[in-house]
Amino acid sequence: MAKKELAATRQTTINAQPRLHQRASEIQAYGTVSHGLPLELEEPVRLEMTEQLNLLLADTMTLRDLYKKSHWQVAGPTFYQLHLLFDKHYDEQVEIVDEIAERIQLLGGVSVSMAADVAETTRIERPPRGREEVPVQISRLLDAHQIIIGHCRQLARRASEIGDDGTNDLVVSDVLRANELQVWFLSEHLVDVPLVHAQEPSVRKAG
Ligand SMILES: [Fe+2]
Repeated sequence: MAKKELAATRQTTINAQPRLHQRASEIQAYGTVSHGLPLELEEPVRLEMTEQLNLLLADTMTLRDLYKKSHWQVAGPTFYQLHLLFDKHYDEQVEIVDEIAERIQLLGGVSVSMAADVAETTRIERPPRGREEVPVQISRLLDAHQIIIGHCRQLARRASEIGDDGTNDLVVSDVLRANELQVWFLSEHLVDVPLVHAQEPSVRKAG
């Protein structure tokens, strides 16, 4: 058997050894759209929508992580209530992240996914590593929601304009509505009402 043939035989021999540490070129670059599934959506539409959805995804992943940070680091008399609420909102944002990411992929795009790439893409202000008091935690969360809600309104209108009804529906029904509801639940914690003693009417007028 010639040397070349022998080498080819060795390569194709079935072997129990796992093939570890493999690397290869990307199969699709970030920022591009591939294949046309039979969706009746032109490439420029899918390109614009995936770019916008990736911004929404990066912001949503950041908000999701801000909820977990707040869940772990919260302190004070409302600890237990907020600890649970922050985790509930975190779980809801996890679902939204998956829905946005999978819409990007089905439109032929590439979803942003890793923390470093998300950090470079998001418009949400980076919080410090340390702990902050409750009003600051809630304010940061509300600011993040505001960025996402503003973007949702623009994106939903644009998606409708250029014929991507699926993206419009996802953004309005799943992302916008969930964010609006979470904003309500958070905001009520920033209303300065007495915990035990009702305020005298005379004090109220003077204030
Ligand atoms: Fe937990």
